[in-house]
Amino acid sequence: MLFEQIATGGCQSYLIGCADTCAAALIDPEISQIDHYIALAARDGLRIRYLIDTHTHADHFSATRELARQLSVPVVMHRKSPAPFVDLRIGDGEMVVLGKLRLQAIYTPGHTADSMCLQVDGRLFTGDTLLIEGTGRTDLPSGDPEALYDSLFHRILRLDPALEVYPAHDYKGRSHSTIAQELASNPRLQKRDRESFVEMMRSLSLTMPTHITEALRTNMSGGKTVSQLLAAAAATVPFMSLAELKTRVEAAEDDLIVLDVRERDAYERGHIPGARLLPRGQLELRVNQDLPDPTRRVLACCELGYISTLAAATLREIGYLHAVALDGGMKAWRETGYPVKTGSEP
Ligand SMILES: [Fe+2]
Repeated sequence: MLFEQIATGGCQSYLIGCADTCAAALIDPEISQIDHYIALAARDGLRIRYLIDTHTHADHFSATRELARQLSVPVVMHRKSPAPFVDLRIGDGEMVVLGKLRLQAIYTPGHTADSMCLQVDGRLFTGDTLLIEGTGRTDLPSGDPEALYDSLFHRILRLDPALEVYPAHDYKGRSHSTIAQELASNPRLQKRDRESFVEMMRSLSLTMPTHITEALRTNMSGGKTVSQLLAAAAATVPFMSLAELKTRVEAAEDDLIVLDVRERDAYERGHIPGARLLPRGQLELRVNQDLPDPTRRVLACCELGYISTLAAATLREIGYLHAVALDGGMKAWRETGYPVKTGSEP
């Protein structure tokens, strides 16, 4: 079996492949590592056949939907997954066949109602059901400490003690453990009666993961994250640096229209000399009147450089083929000490 573990922050993803057939599966991929996964599979001579999420993640952005689109392969999740884009829903005891490998699903609700572990060749991919010296939390949507108790003590911990445990998270840089090690030293597993375990899980007061709303929204719906929207827009526009723009503004070159897409109050507090005001929210409505010549070079700027990227992408889309975005925003422009004009332009 070919095996790669990819750590991103505290998230762990796994690429596993059949050495005989080169068929591979990716478990719990994370959105920022898409190119990394594809490059690793190519380097190892693997073809990714399945994209598997062990559960609906609340703390990071899953890459399964986007990779499924790019690679034309199915997304696999437990049948209880609420995500409408899952192609292959599997249940307890069912297997995904990967060349000569067999990935067996073990239904382990508790961290979420759709959590499953996957067992293949001496390895157990535990998602957030069992972590190294920890367990998944049960206070997020669909979490249930009673179910987690059953999944752990009646299912997972009864498997072969030598099974290697590969969790979906580890924040201390550890790669794996074994069932035996977890039974011996995992502090959450030392309360072995149901009542104490449930009581302990209920009394943990954990902080909410950052981006939980956006992670649940996108992982459950297959919708895009804000950073995906920005990356898609950024891929369609060229950028100009602050220094380059300053040189051009000082040379008073009139081939460049600087378009400030913030709201009027921000613009009047300080804008690039000569910049015109056209708030992002009015762009499509006013563009015909304000920018009658689509062959002009238009540079969009905003406060932080994000909204201007979306504005430049919109301008390109509607025919302003020379629209560019500022690499940075007014905040960086001011902090660099470049000239700012207040009030409105003549
Ligand atoms: Fe999770």
